[in-house]
Amino acid sequence: MSLDKLFTPCALGALTLPNRIVMAPMTRSRAGQPGDVPTAMNATYYAQRASAGLIVTEATQVMDKAQGYAWTPGIFTAEQIAGWRLVTDAVHAAGGRIFLQIWHVGRISHPALLGGVVPMAPSAIAAEGATAFIVDEQGPRHVPTATPQALALTEIPTIIDGFAQAARNAVAVGFDGVEVHGANGYLLDQFLESGSNQRSDAYGGSVEKRARLLLEVVDAVSAAIGAERTGVRLSPLGRFNGMSDDDPLATFAYAATELDRRGLAYLHLNDQGSGEPAQKDAIWAEIRRRYRGTLILCGGYDADSAEAAIASGQADLIAFGRPYIANPDLVERYRRGAALNPTDEASIYGGAEHGYIDYPALAD
Ligand code: PHB
Repeated sequence: MSLDKLFTPCALGALTLPNRIVMAPMTRSRAGQPGDVPTAMNATYYAQRASAGLIVTEATQVMDKAQGYAWTPGIFTAEQIAGWRLVTDAVHAAGGRIFLQIWHVGRISHPALLGGVVPMAPSAIAAEGATAFIVDEQGPRHVPTATPQALALTEIPTIIDGFAQAARNAVAVGFDGVEVHGANGYLLDQFLESGSNQRSDAYGGSVEKRARLLLEVVDAVSAAIGAERTGVRLSPLGRFNGMSDDDPLATFAYAATELDRRGLAYLHLNDQGSGEPAQKDAIWAEIRRRYRGTLILCGGYDADSAEAAIASGQADLIAFGRPYIANPDLVERYRRGAALNPTDEASIYGGAEHGYIDYPALAD
């Protein structure tokens, strides 16, 4: 099958993407220690993947106490901010474009990662089956997440400011934009979906109130760096991190309508493969109808299914996660119909160069 659509350029804000292949955000747990500081090795990893139409980085904590896994990078200390400059310079020198994914994990954390403080969330509801990744005297390990404490109304502006400042920091060190992480059961998703939000104040109850924090963060980030440099990721029907919603069609349709009005760079949907296929198709179609801007879809695509999704009008861009771990030149491999490198599962999270920057490109 030809891949004409996948290789058709696409405008994204002020950028022109040379193809419709996006490198999806992926945690690799390799920030420099101490301090969760991006390094020259991280810069090499992203620069190797610069032929993607757009790179979205791994999730990056926006502020102190926003972290849920050891060794994920931040963008709030001077050292972290300076470290990211290595990454943006390397990607741009290699001809690429890169957005920083900015997150707060909310309840998906543990006091061991937060200086002894209990994680914050919309409500004091533990995430069923979820784990945090900690390092303590017993070594690195996954542990069940802690039962969180509910954020006070007075604490919410600090969270919004944290996202806006992270976005300012990102653009100041050369990122082309940021992706607000509203997906996968982290803080903004915890507010959005009814299973994790039982608040009775202005941030819980109706869908309008549950979506309020997401939208206020998006507005603050857009005000800080421009809507055309602001993307948003959501994961309708996702069950990861103990998520659920009483009426996902209504919740995500409302979010899509509100995001549509904001003139953002894009909306990015992550399909975790959970939920009934018919329900998923209905929600995806409704979002596509309501959100008229650039839509990125992610989750289990290969080159042919990506081409088909673009050709049929379901998506404008397709994000690839796992294939990018082992194939820095994924664009060229798809273009040539070449085989993909196998992924070494053991080196996905943590470690050093092996399994990170030593996967061969075709020309090697
Ligand atoms: C993870 O580290 O397991 C992780 C991080 C961010 C996501 C999803 C999973 O959005």
